[in-house]
Amino acid sequence: MKISKRAEAVPPSATISVTTRAKELQAQGVDVVSFGAGEPDFDTPDYIKEAAIKAIKAGKTKYTAAAGTKELRTAIADKLQRENGLRYTPDQVIVNIGGKHAVYESMQAVLDPGDEVILPIPYWVTYPEAIKLSGAVPKIIQTDKINNHKITPQQLEKAINEKTAMVVINSPNNPGGFTYTPEELTGLVQVLEGTKVIVLSDEIYEKLTYGKTKFVSFASLSDDAYNRTLTLNGFSKTYAMTGWRLGYTAGPLEVIKAMGRLQSHMTQNPVTFAQDAVIAALGGDANIVEKMRTEFERRGKYMAQRLNSIEGIECPEPTGAFYCFPDVSSNYGRTINGMKITGSMDFAKALLEQANVAVVPGLPFGCDGNVRLSFACSIEQITKGLDRLKKWISQ
Ligand SMILES: Cc1ncc(COP(=O)(O)O)c(C=O)c1O
Repeated sequence: MKISKRAEAVPPSATISVTTRAKELQAQGVDVVSFGAGEPDFDTPDYIKEAAIKAIKAGKTKYTAAAGTKELRTAIADKLQRENGLRYTPDQVIVNIGGKHAVYESMQAVLDPGDEVILPIPYWVTYPEAIKLSGAVPKIIQTDKINNHKITPQQLEKAINEKTAMVVINSPNNPGGFTYTPEELTGLVQVLEGTKVIVLSDEIYEKLTYGKTKFVSFASLSDDAYNRTLTLNGFSKTYAMTGWRLGYTAGPLEVIKAMGRLQSHMTQNPVTFAQDAVIAALGGDANIVEKMRTEFERRGKYMAQRLNSIEGIECPEPTGAFYCFPDVSSNYGRTINGMKITGSMDFAKALLEQANVAVVPGLPFGCDGNVRLSFACSIEQITKGLDRLKKWISQ
C-alpha cells in the first residue's frame, strides 16, 4: 500500500531501536546489560495503582472531556502553583497522552510551515521529528562542551531571526543529564524579551535533580517568560508511570484551547481511570518520589565515577534526569575486535554485539562524540556493564 511522504520521512526512534536489538539478543539467551531504556526500573507506587483500580470499580471507564477531567486539570494547576510558583487556571491546562504527545500536539497548535524552531544540541530524539511533522524547520544549534552543552544567551541571540517561532528548552536534559541554573535561564529570558518567540519548556525530569542543583520552571522567571512559555510535564519519570501515558501542557488559554480542538479529533481524552490515578499521584506522599530520586542520585554518581575511571571516556557528573552522556570520541578511528569505530553508531553496535552492553548512540541526539547510558537500573547491573565496557575498550 502507498505510504505518505510524511510517514516515510519519519525514522524509528533510535532509543527504541537499541532496546529492541538488546531484547532480541536477550530472547536468544544472551546476557545483555541494557543501559538503553529511558524509564525507571521501579514499579508504579501501590497507592497510584489502587486509585486506578478504585476508579475502574466505580465505573470510571467512559469518555471524559477531551482535555481531561476538570478535577485533574485543577489538581495539576494546584501543583504548578504550589511547587513551581505558576498561576494557571484549570482551563489553561490540557492533559495529554504522555509527554511525547504533549510535544507533538503543542507544536501542531502553534507552528506553521516554514517557521523555525531553535533546538540546542543535544536534544531528545522526538523534538526534530515533531517539529518537521508540523511543517516547521528545526534550527539545530551547536553547543559547547565547555558549557556542558547548554545554550548561552549569545548563541540564542545569534540564532533568532524573523522566521523563529519557538525555542525548545529541556532541563533537566535528556540525553545530556545536565540542568540549567536559574541564572542561565534568566540570561535566555532576557534575550527573548521583545520577540514573539514561544518557549517550549519540557520539565518532565523536574523532580530528578542531584547535589545542589535547583530546578526552576522557565515560566516562573518573569511575567514575560510566563506569557511566552508552554510548560510541558508528565508522570512517566517522576512516578514510574511510563506505561500509563499521562502528560500535560500548561500555557496561554488560546494555545491550550487550540490543543483541545486538535485533541478532540485526534485522541479524545487520556484514559479515564488513569486520570484518577494521577490525581492520587499528585496528592501522595512526597517521600515515595524522594526515595526514587535518592537512589537515582546514588547510581548516577557511581556510574559517572566508574566511566571517568576508564581510559578514553570522559563524563560530566549528571545534575539531573537519569542519563550519563560520556564523550567517547577519542576511540573513533580505532579498530576493536576487527570492527572499525568511526562514530557513535559503530561504537554502540560493536559494544552491544561484542560485549553485550546496550548504550544509545549520540548521533540521533545531535552529538556523535557521545553515547547515552541510562542509570535507571540497579547498581549491580551498572557494575557488571561497566566492567564489560572497560574490558572491551581496553583491547
Ligand atoms: C525529554 C523528554 N520529554 C518527554 C518525554 C516523554 O515521556 P512520556 O511520553 O512517557 O510522558 C521523554 C521520554 O523519554 C523525554 O525524555
